[in-house]
Amino acid sequence: MEDFVVETSNLVKTFGRVHALNGLSMQIPKGISGFVGKNGSGKTTTIGVLLGLIKANTGQATMFGLDCWKSSFEIRQKIGVMHETNAYPGNFSGRRFLTHVAKLYGITQIDQVITELLNDVDLIHAQDKPIKTYSAGMFKRLGLAQALIGIPELAILDEPTANIDPIGRITLLEKIKEIHTKHGTSFLISTHILSDLEKICNYLLIIDQGKTIDQGYINNLTEKYSANIYKIEVSNTQQFAATLKKIAIIDKVWVENGKIFCKVNDPEVFCAEIPKIVSELRLPLKGFQQTLGSLEEIYAQTVGEKR
Ligand SMILES: Nc1ncnc2c1ncn2[C@@H]1O[C@H](COP(=O)(O)OP(=O)(O)O)[C@@H](O)[C@H]1O
Ligand SMILES: [Mg+2]
Repeated sequence: MEDFVVETSNLVKTFGRVHALNGLSMQIPKGISGFVGKNGSGKTTTIGVLLGLIKANTGQATMFGLDCWKSSFEIRQKIGVMHETNAYPGNFSGRRFLTHVAKLYGITQIDQVITELLNDVDLIHAQDKPIKTYSAGMFKRLGLAQALIGIPELAILDEPTANIDPIGRITLLEKIKEIHTKHGTSFLISTHILSDLEKICNYLLIIDQGKTIDQGYINNLTEKYSANIYKIEVSNTQQFAATLKKIAIIDKVWVENGKIFCKVNDPEVFCAEIPKIVSELRLPLKGFQQTLGSLEEIYAQTVGEKR
């Protein structure tokens, strides 16, 4: 049987009248996993339950086979966390802050450990500067270093790429991948920016309104969702898309980056229809191909975001 690091079944959590989790079930394997959902979908609440900070109304959550509520002390020895919002002592240098945390953890050979971590997250050049002078990307990398003190089996990162510029995001994600390769640490990374994860995750969990919409290894999900998806490029995207939406054999039509995507249930009939639409609308095709779904397309189909 597969070795899951995190498992939940039917988690329900309400805050007054708000149903944050509506029966959330998931199985997260070792490796780098993405935990994806729109703002308010329940990611931070789920992480709170996993960390033993929030008690679910009903349902079960385990990490490494241990109950997240009852055994949160044992679990914390095996994990590192980077919370969604973090406050750091701004006058401390990066090194001084990490040293302080490492002392709390009872780490030995602190100087050596911190030097390695600062190198891992590419902050060695700024180690002696006050944290308040760090950029948003450097803050996040400091948070990553903090989560990695003691080299945990699993690091849970809540929205690590939020509010940082694209280059900062790429640097952070590259560091995560390098650290996984170097130390074997598994990651559970929550985000509402799915495209960020494409390059580094091997497993994906998609939630919406406190429920799992789908989960699986990325290559399996890509295959599953890209079956019968076509990409169409024309000069008048809106007009063409509106016409496609009227055809019964098309399940879904959405527009992304100026291109039309269609999920169809009968490719033969669909391909026969296209020339008819082209001549009817007098809109020649600039591009027409079957696609392999990107994570964005999977997300659009599962969570139903049509842009
Ligand atoms: N402490 C709380 N009190 C009341 N409502 C909350 C609390 N925490 C979360 N919620 C609500 O629960 C839902 C899920 O929130 P959250 O888990 O933070 O989502 P995400 O992290 O995916 O953005 C939201 O509707 C949010 O407003
Ligand atoms: Mg959140």
